[in-house]
Amino acid sequence: MIFISFFLGFLLVTIIVCFFFYQSKVQNGSSTLPPGSLGWPVLGETLEFLGTARNGMPDKFTSLIGKQTAVSCGAEGNKFLFSNENKAVVIWWPTSLQNLFPSSIMASTSHDTKRMRKAFFKPESLSRCVGTMDDVTKQYLQMEWENRREVKVFPMVKNYTFSLACSLFTSIEDPIYISKLATDFNVVLKGIISFPLNFLGTHYYQAIRATDQLRKELRVLIEQRREALSERPSSPKHDLLWCMLKTADENGQLMTVNEVLDNMLALLMGGHDTTRCALTFLMKYLAEVPHVYDEIFKGKLFWNSLTKGPNELLTWEDMQKMRYSWATANEAMRLAPAVQGNFRKALSDFTYAGFHIPKGWTLYWSVNSTHMNPDYFLEPEKFDPSRFQGNGPTPFAFIPFGGGPRMCPGKEYARLEILMFLHNVVKKFKWESAFPNEMLKVDPLPTPAEGLPILLHPH
Ligand code: HEM
Repeated sequence: MIFISFFLGFLLVTIIVCFFFYQSKVQNGSSTLPPGSLGWPVLGETLEFLGTARNGMPDKFTSLIGKQTAVSCGAEGNKFLFSNENKAVVIWWPTSLQNLFPSSIMASTSHDTKRMRKAFFKPESLSRCVGTMDDVTKQYLQMEWENRREVKVFPMVKNYTFSLACSLFTSIEDPIYISKLATDFNVVLKGIISFPLNFLGTHYYQAIRATDQLRKELRVLIEQRREALSERPSSPKHDLLWCMLKTADENGQLMTVNEVLDNMLALLMGGHDTTRCALTFLMKYLAEVPHVYDEIFKGKLFWNSLTKGPNELLTWEDMQKMRYSWATANEAMRLAPAVQGNFRKALSDFTYAGFHIPKGWTLYWSVNSTHMNPDYFLEPEKFDPSRFQGNGPTPFAFIPFGGGPRMCPGKEYARLEILMFLHNVVKKFKWESAFPNEMLKVDPLPTPAEGLPILLHPH
């Protein structure tokens, strides 16, 4: 007993001494490092960061997820990071994410990601999706929103964004199977922003198991489709999976099954919770600021679309005309961005804004450093879509999709989905909040604490 107490006491003293040694070594030795404490070894300031990120102030830290990290502030800092990809910096995703999707676009160099971007998210491919999107959106609203007085937007809209992604990316349409996949993706999402501690009970452990399960399910589908494609190259299912399976790189190499699998997982993952979050906050602000709703409702395109025949769907050209709606969606993403920021890694020592950034440090850009800054957005708390009309914001100040060569490849897809939903929902309903002044939490994406209940008023 005495021995154990002595041992534990010794261990505690050693940890405390190491901590102060670590702090003084890294801080005193390098006065031009960016300001801020380096926090605890391994953890750094991650716990404080997660705490304040939930309150919308993630910008004052220097040591995140066990990495020495400089946080970039302001449009100039963003510009520097985004225009120096593969020169001074390179994208860096947290270890948990790299481990979960090891051969996906996220783990690839910028060069490799070009193929993915060109093949799947170019306007020609996306324009083919518009009709299906419109059809799915109409059916969704008819089945799940019509004949209801009240809906909870945040949980309900997930069915929409996830079903749409399953349908357009993989042609999976069975609602029971889709809801089973959605359960596994929820577990993965929780694991992505956790520490990569792989033991029973941790979010990360559960995420690894859920990813394995999803891999098993999707592998069968991918192998079947690959076989079908080799027998009949003009497959009738022109979905994202079909594009992935048939697009070769410049050396004529097709993706391996594992690459297709990891990319599909990453796209299904990135392609529904983010847009769900954007749609939820768009609905929230339109309930709170009715004159903006009226502006969309009065729009010329809106009235033109009412004269379309019952089976006539929106077209790619229609989507390009929804400028005010897109300005409104941008304003919602400025105030409640789905992604709070992302990392880059220094490829060599460099100096920026008088601070020395050592090779290997991570750099974090944060949306809130500009989105909520009055230097870039006057009265930043105010919801005002007109900021995105005319010349729009200062370059590199509005960055919900990141920037540079690693900017979100799903941006155009997200734009179509958001506009499609907005157009169809405004056509059917006006709405008001059923829970005014609802709190916001970040879990890990911004989430209304009560799920955003709204009262629907059909036209
Ligand atoms: C409102 C919706 C969305 C938002 C706000 C968003 C935001 C972002 C952000 C901030 C990044 C990091 C960019 C950087 O570091 O510069 C990113 C990357 C990524 N996003 Fe999105 N995203 C959205 C929708 C989507 C959709 C619909 C998809 C898929 C169809 C998608 C797939 C991805 C992928 C695969 C990456 C990694 C790209 C790379 O590493 O090169 N995202 N997204």
